[in-house]
Amino acid sequence: MSFLFLFLLSLAPLFHSSSPLPYPYNTSFHIDCGSSTPSTDSYNISWLPDKFFTGGSTSVVSEPLHFHLQHEKTLRYFPLSSGKKNCYNIPLPAGRYYIRTFTVYDNYDGKSHSPSFDASVEGTLVFSWRSPWPESLTRDGAYSDLFAFVKDGQLDLCFYSIATDPPVIASLEVVQIDPLSYNSAQTGDSYILVNYGRLSPGSSQWGPGFTSDPDAFGRSWQSDSDYRAGKSESAKVITTKEKITGTEKAPNYFPMKLYQSAVTIEGRLEYELPVDAKLDYLVWFHFAEIDSTVKKAGERVFDVLVNDKNVSRVDIFKEVGSFVAYSLNYTEKNLSSSVLNVKLSPVAGAPLICGLENYAMVPADLATVPEQVVAMKALKDSLCVPDRMGWNGDPCAPTDWDAWEGVTCHTNKNGTGLVITQM
Ligand SMILES: *[C@@H]1O[C@H](CO)[C@@H](O)[C@H](O)[C@H]1NC(C)=O
Ligand SMILES: *[C@@H]1O[C@H](CO)[C@@H](O)[C@H](O)[C@H]1NC(C)=O
Ligand SMILES: *[C@@H]1O[C@H](CO)[C@@H](O)[C@H](O)[C@H]1NC(C)=O
Ligand SMILES: *[C@@H]1O[C@H](CO)[C@@H](O)[C@H](O)[C@H]1NC(C)=O
Ligand SMILES: *[C@@H]1O[C@H](CO)[C@@H](O)[C@H](O)[C@H]1NC(C)=O
Ligand SMILES: *[C@@H]1O[C@H](CO)[C@@H](O)[C@H](O)[C@H]1NC(C)=O
Repeated sequence: MSFLFLFLLSLAPLFHSSSPLPYPYNTSFHIDCGSSTPSTDSYNISWLPDKFFTGGSTSVVSEPLHFHLQHEKTLRYFPLSSGKKNCYNIPLPAGRYYIRTFTVYDNYDGKSHSPSFDASVEGTLVFSWRSPWPESLTRDGAYSDLFAFVKDGQLDLCFYSIATDPPVIASLEVVQIDPLSYNSAQTGDSYILVNYGRLSPGSSQWGPGFTSDPDAFGRSWQSDSDYRAGKSESAKVITTKEKITGTEKAPNYFPMKLYQSAVTIEGRLEYELPVDAKLDYLVWFHFAEIDSTVKKAGERVFDVLVNDKNVSRVDIFKEVGSFVAYSLNYTEKNLSSSVLNVKLSPVAGAPLICGLENYAMVPADLATVPEQVVAMKALKDSLCVPDRMGWNGDPCAPTDWDAWEGVTCHTNKNGTGLVITQM
């Protein structure tokens, strides 16, 4: 008995030194838009009452019992009397952030008209909602997320009304992430990565907001079953409870759970992911050999093809062995179709995949030159500009919005920023 005790004691420091360092980024906000009280949800996430908004009003979905989380029931909307442009301006340290919104209509205003509006992050257009919304979005709502750099110490998430529709938001979450994640050492800090699919093959939806499974970045992962194409619909699911090594590591902190399930099929495994044309897409593939009957290199080999281009040949065991995470990424440039097709084509054995992520790489739009932003904010305060003028966020960006009523902007001489040319 005492021997066992000593044995455990001597092992303890060993475990300690081999465990990963704690997640070093500690800025996060979970804002329950439209709510006046703080709350903690069933996944132990603490929600702040609504704050940091420039205007608008609050409301509640028409059928609160249809929504199981408190933050999904209350919302903030921005009627035209608040101006065409409204924002959440959140002070936070310069860095990179995961930003997630929950958007729902559920006929909160009794008008049976889902609204058309745009949303921007740091002056770049990221989401466009157009009426009529699909039935599931109208009634159940949807989470949308992206990764963005915030360089000026304040996150600007802005909404722009189309026609006279009031933009609406039910919750806003912001989690600081590693600035080097998702390949930014190569791509730089001027892209916003907008989530077009983050799949966990062989699992149902999990992660923050859906289950209590952790993900340091706050990412949630969805089932792949709706995206499998052709014969792949009948692919076999494999799961394991074994520990997978090489997970939860800087800079991407991919969670272990991602690699504990997979799908596999005799033959070709195929996915079709919906996309919008004319953008570049960053695709991440996640693998782990979690089938213990595969015991050596060469037993499971397959080629990964994106839109029929051969990206890489994969032999998971040869690269990392068993029960170890192995990830790859690929950028598909200037997509011309509305579908991104991924095929795992067998060379030996059956292809297998644990995770698939697809992000649109949205280039950051030009912003108003900093001196003018400061000057315009001072002018707005001294003039007491009425709310309906919508003088919120960047005066000129995004460039395709008529951002501040009565203010005309142009690109400066060397094309590095926007300047106000007329008021
Ligand atoms: C958050 O992290 C920074 C360093 O990244 C540290 O200086 C600060 O003390 C941390 N704050 C808390 C509340 O842990
Ligand atoms: C919930 O979160 C708090 C900190 O936000 C922590 O102290 C507490 O242990 C957590 N409780 C559970 C059940 O995880
Ligand atoms: C696909 O590309 C890999 C190198 O990335 C190569 O080893 C493999 O043979 C190629 N597959 C085919 C079918 O050409
Ligand atoms: C991602 O792709 C870049 C560029 O091709 C490469 O340098 C990097 O090593 C890749 N990372 C992983 C984890 O595959
Ligand atoms: C993207 O493709 C379209 C045609 O599909 C072409 O007109 C355009 O010039 C391309 N853009 C870039 C940056 O390559
Ligand atoms: C562009 O011009 C502005 C002044 O209009 C100047 O402050 C800035 O440094 C210039 N940038 C470059 C890259 O030349």
